[in-house]
Amino acid sequence: MPIDPTLIAQAAQHLLRGGLVAFPTETVYGLGADAGNGQAVAAIYATKRRPAINPLICHVPDLPAARALADFSPLAERLAAAFWPGPLTLVLPLRPGAGIHPLVTAGLTTIALRCPAHPDAQALLRAVGRPIAAPSANPSGQLSSTRVDHVQRAFSDQPNIVILPDSQSPLGLESTIVDGCGDTPRLLREGAIAREELQELLGGTLLDASAQQSSATGEATLKAPGMMRRHYAPRKPLRLNAHDVRPDEALLAFGANPIAGGVATLNLSDTGNLLEAAANFYAMLHQLDNTAAASIAVMPLPNHGLGRALNDRLARAIAKD
Ligand code: TXA
Ligand code: MG
Repeated sequence: MPIDPTLIAQAAQHLLRGGLVAFPTETVYGLGADAGNGQAVAAIYATKRRPAINPLICHVPDLPAARALADFSPLAERLAAAFWPGPLTLVLPLRPGAGIHPLVTAGLTTIALRCPAHPDAQALLRAVGRPIAAPSANPSGQLSSTRVDHVQRAFSDQPNIVILPDSQSPLGLESTIVDGCGDTPRLLREGAIAREELQELLGGTLLDASAQQSSATGEATLKAPGMMRRHYAPRKPLRLNAHDVRPDEALLAFGANPIAGGVATLNLSDTGNLLEAAANFYAMLHQLDNTAAASIAVMPLPNHGLGRALNDRLARAIAKD
């Protein structure tokens, strides 16, 4: 069902007055601010308790709006043509004078750009007429929000945030981030577009995040800074690659033969479908995190397609700070 246009108009006004708006995208919810308003962007960092060295993704309604903010190489044009609007974020050289507050990019000379496909995100971007800086709508380091109740719970003490309702089921996993600054694309974050899909388009030339490469801006290219530390973590401890369940554990299962036992079981996909698993991933972790279990055991997930991105999130969730 399409969203009530008055909600979009009110949310757009709130953004233009420097307020924060949580809005659905086809990946996860974003917590948005006017990307040209330093105070509003600072409020994102404060609300999420996000370290100010971790830059934000800037959302635009279409390719022309993106070209006004960053320099697009032929490679970047090709990626945008193939995957926009959609769950791909491109890191590109920031155009000087683009009107993006330096807090958005954490002072870098590059900017992460994303053109979301979700109709409500599109409607909001067009109503505002300005780029919206938006990280995922969750406290820094914690589980991302795929449904409106996750956002409401995460920011229940922040009455000034306008939260748009959810109107369709999301892909459930953050966008794939590609650094398009150098001659060869680098995959900075696995996400809703599988590595195999990118490689099919690019003909196999895709570097890993750890690969060093000098960028078009002359600045050593960065890893996605937020990808290096503990992230995406539920409050309860996780136990990965579980082949058994302890009596006081909850189980995040996968496939046709879930292990028996434990306090509660949720199955990411009983047919072993990774698209379905991605869509359920954060919502099920939120649910199991709210049970009486002492910890959450997770069955092994295949390491191909979207399974790679899910395994990446799980590995970061158990990482030490
Ligand atoms: O699907 C998504 O991408 C969601 C929706 C709301 O669009 N957004 C999202 O934002 O996941 P966030 O802040 O949770 O993750 C953004 C990542 C961070 O790891 C950040 O370090 C990286 O993008 N990033 C942003 N700007 C960058 C830049 N200029 N260079 C390298 N990495 C950058
Ligand atoms: Mg995030």
